[in-house]
Amino acid sequence: MDAPAHELILAPLRGVTGLRFRQAFQAHLTGLDRAVAPFIATVQGPRVKPEILRGVDPAAQPAGLPLIPQVIGKDPAQLRVMLRAMRALGYADIDLNAGCPWPFVAKKGRGAGLLRDEASLAAMLEAGCEELGPGHFSLKVRLGLDDATLLPRRLPLIQSFPLRELCVHPRTAKQMYEGAVDLETFARVAEACRLPLVYNGDIRTLGDFRRLSARFPGIRRWMLGRGLVANPFLAESIRADTDTRVLARFQAWHADLLERYAADAPGDHALLGHLKELWAYLAPTFRDGRRLWDALKLTRTRAEFERVLALSRLEWA
Ligand SMILES: Cc1cc2nc3c(=O)[nH]c(=O)nc-3n(C[C@H](O)[C@H](O)[C@H](O)COP(=O)(O)O)c2cc1C
Repeated sequence: MDAPAHELILAPLRGVTGLRFRQAFQAHLTGLDRAVAPFIATVQGPRVKPEILRGVDPAAQPAGLPLIPQVIGKDPAQLRVMLRAMRALGYADIDLNAGCPWPFVAKKGRGAGLLRDEASLAAMLEAGCEELGPGHFSLKVRLGLDDATLLPRRLPLIQSFPLRELCVHPRTAKQMYEGAVDLETFARVAEACRLPLVYNGDIRTLGDFRRLSARFPGIRRWMLGRGLVANPFLAESIRADTDTRVLARFQAWHADLLERYAADAPGDHALLGHLKELWAYLAPTFRDGRRLWDALKLTRTRAEFERVLALSRLEWA
């Protein structure tokens, strides 16, 4: 029997892969099977204000890209409130963030900090699985906080719950988003893990995907983050097993995304904030990307930004 097809999942990148990014992606590009939305923090009290859930409003989601909302928090009662609000919107599958590395999050026992306190992690997994039922709650983790020993130690607890999947970004919180991914430890986790496992981290090129999928033949779920933002054709190229980039399609996608950002932004300042965050990832994809990025960074208005882009002859690096 053939191995099941690879599933490609858009990573949650707060401020980057939100609603507008997903809408523009689906309007112009292909290759993603589903997306995890950037985290939404649990709230105090019995009610979740609708504006908190705007990014996961089902009516606004693009067709063909099933969305899994993600929650960050550490209080099981607050988690239940958020899960119920999301279920009320129609979501059956929801993810818990146990990977956010920022010290102000992790120190408070949220995000990657959840891994530190076994009882707290257990209480969250129990609440999530109970609220959503078996096979509907999932967890996104790192290998640990300061070193890579924590996830291997927590794995027996994690997989004692009927989770839909476990997504592993094989870095420690201390590494933030830099330094090498620890594939040795990921391999050990993969060997011990009975839950469906997602690999996430540093898939930037088709070559990276080929290498990783050859090294981990048992993995069928792959999450793409910064690599897909830098090259929006990445999922499509992985599917086609060849580079599918076309500049005209890139430009159509970008123009559409810019319009969507502009429609939300109260003014050029906010719009440029979005665009610069995006281009911090995109620029290195282009020849002379450093110079282009330096020029884009200095722009102060939409018109200036568009002029710099129009004057630069975009060519793939
Ligand atoms: C700007 C930024 C925002 C992120 N926001 C989230 C988030 O909301 N939830 C989450 O689980 N991970 C978040 N991450 C982590 C990514 O989902 C992913 O695990 C990480 O970037 C590694 O994958 P990559 O190398 O493919 O980007 C974020 C990462 C970045 C760089």
